[in-house]
Amino acid sequence: MTTVNIRPYAPDDFDRLYEIDHTAFAEDIAYSHIELQYYVSSRKCRTLVAEDAGEVIGFVIGCSEPRHLGHIITIDVAPHRQRQRIGSLLLAEIETWLWERGAEAIYLETPVDDAGARGFYDRHGYFILERIEGYYNDSLDAYLMMKTDKRSNRM
Ligand SMILES: CC(C)(COP(=O)(O)OP(=O)(O)OC[C@H]1O[C@@H](n2cnc3c(N)ncnc32)[C@H](O)[C@@H]1OP(=O)(O)O)[C@@H](O)C(=O)NCCC(=O)NCCS
Repeated sequence: MTTVNIRPYAPDDFDRLYEIDHTAFAEDIAYSHIELQYYVSSRKCRTLVAEDAGEVIGFVIGCSEPRHLGHIITIDVAPHRQRQRIGSLLLAEIETWLWERGAEAIYLETPVDDAGARGFYDRHGYFILERIEGYYNDSLDAYLMMKTDKRSNRM
């Protein structure tokens, strides 16, 4: 039996993270090389990677923002490893980092047509604040979701 290990991002992970992101999201909303490179390199952000027996199977990026805000940039789990609590593990770890950095609320954007992701965030205490028109390439709306209660996590 193998165990999933959550560890900080290392530059050698980049290609695999890009691949997972482009498998998880449609080409027009997945991150470009430059965008992904910006987030994994930014000093205000932290990228955590889920690994099982040497295979990177998911990742999360969270950024610490001014005015006590945390921002989840993305969370992606490889399709063959979804619904195995890996996303929940990644989310819990990045939330802990953001709360420890002084966040009083954590927010994120998610496509309105992704009921799975919405169910996932709802389960972890996020509520819809508003709908942002054309957030993705002026063509797809996003829900802005937020969490303020550190204790609400239903793994
Ligand atoms: C959304 C995502 C990160 C969840 O990660 P995961 O490891 O699959 O999720 P978990 O196993 O921790 O799921 C926990 C719960 O979240 C909810 N959930 C997760 N995926 C779901 C789906 N596709 N449909 C409905 N509910 C879902 C369920 O309540 C699930 O519990 P259950 O399996 O007992 O029903 C993952 O499915 C993913 O990478 N999707 C593609 C990328 C994406 O949409 N990212 C989020 C938007 S930024």
